[in-house]
Amino acid sequence: MRILGIETSCDETAAAIVQGDGREVAILANVVHGQLDIHAAYGGVVPELASRAHIRHVGPVVAAALAQARMAASDLDGIAVTVGPGLVGALLVGVATARGMALALERPLLGIHHMEGHLLSPFLEGVTDFAFPFVALLVSGGHTLLVHAQAFARYEVLGQTRDDSVGEAFDKGARLLGLAYPGGPAIAALARDGNSQAFAFPRALLDRTRHDFSYSGLKTALRTFLEREGAGELDSQRRRDIAASFQEALIEPLVVKSLAACRAARADRLVVAGGVGANQRLRERLTREATAAGIRVLFPPVGLCTDNGAMIACAGLWRLASGMKADSFLNARPRWPLAELSQQI
Ligand code: KG4
Ligand code: ZN
Repeated sequence: MRILGIETSCDETAAAIVQGDGREVAILANVVHGQLDIHAAYGGVVPELASRAHIRHVGPVVAAALAQARMAASDLDGIAVTVGPGLVGALLVGVATARGMALALERPLLGIHHMEGHLLSPFLEGVTDFAFPFVALLVSGGHTLLVHAQAFARYEVLGQTRDDSVGEAFDKGARLLGLAYPGGPAIAALARDGNSQAFAFPRALLDRTRHDFSYSGLKTALRTFLEREGAGELDSQRRRDIAASFQEALIEPLVVKSLAACRAARADRLVVAGGVGANQRLRERLTREATAAGIRVLFPPVGLCTDNGAMIACAGLWRLASGMKADSFLNARPRWPLAELSQQI
């Protein structure tokens, strides 16, 4: 089976084609068109601008994916598309495109949950001996989730953020430090030569028997700290130390709670996906501490960690193979709890 996956939930217009039967999946094409140039000046994603850019790019991106796979649209066996969660106007562009293609080609149309796509990313390529069950730490601009993936389509949310996502906290912290959007890579770069022990920013570890996160207090702590210090007068080493200390306070709860969630779920495999999964310091700490605890931690390649169409196509292929009914009247679902997903099959 060859499935096209379309992803337009946020600020990436993405399309990919995967091939497989059941569990083995190969990527035949993977095209991502980012919009950083459009949103950077605003310090965050502007929903209306994102929708308009998706409209301009979705056709060419799908055409590029077909060309990369050396296929005609009529060679496809199904169309998968992200229906939620995400920005409603952005989602609509992908959904309308997929509906039109499925109707014209008379192929099954599969509505995919964006976070299931991220969850399945370890199965995409290069990692052949990975298997359920596992715990997934999903950390992006929109989400901070710990999920116990017991089997395909059986996902239990163990914890999530009560306020800001960790990516949002990176982005807001970067803005306070006068750094450009997206803030994660900017803070990581500044932190590289900083001392992470220089300042003790608060870690919201909350109740240790639960696996929820909270990041809004840390953002406020950075703001009041910078007001007290006089942000304009900081020398460059002090800025590096602040960035490194702030980054450490963002990362530590991710590490502590991921390991606690693995223990609670009796899982010895942990997957990290989402944009924040690109963070080098998170990778180092989690790898070291998980390995010491007997847990294997897997970071998919950065290009498959961030938003892409291949993970959506993979989820579509698995769902089709498991007997999920196609739905030609799909609508966008901007808010869609992951827990509702297991009831579909
Ligand atoms: O998954 P993603 O690309 O898009 C969303 O679905 O949101 O995640 C974007 C987020 C942004 O908040 C960005 O600042 C963060 O991922 N990010 C990072 C790094 N690279 C991207 N955060 C920390 N360190 C990084 N190296
Ligand atoms: Zn995402």
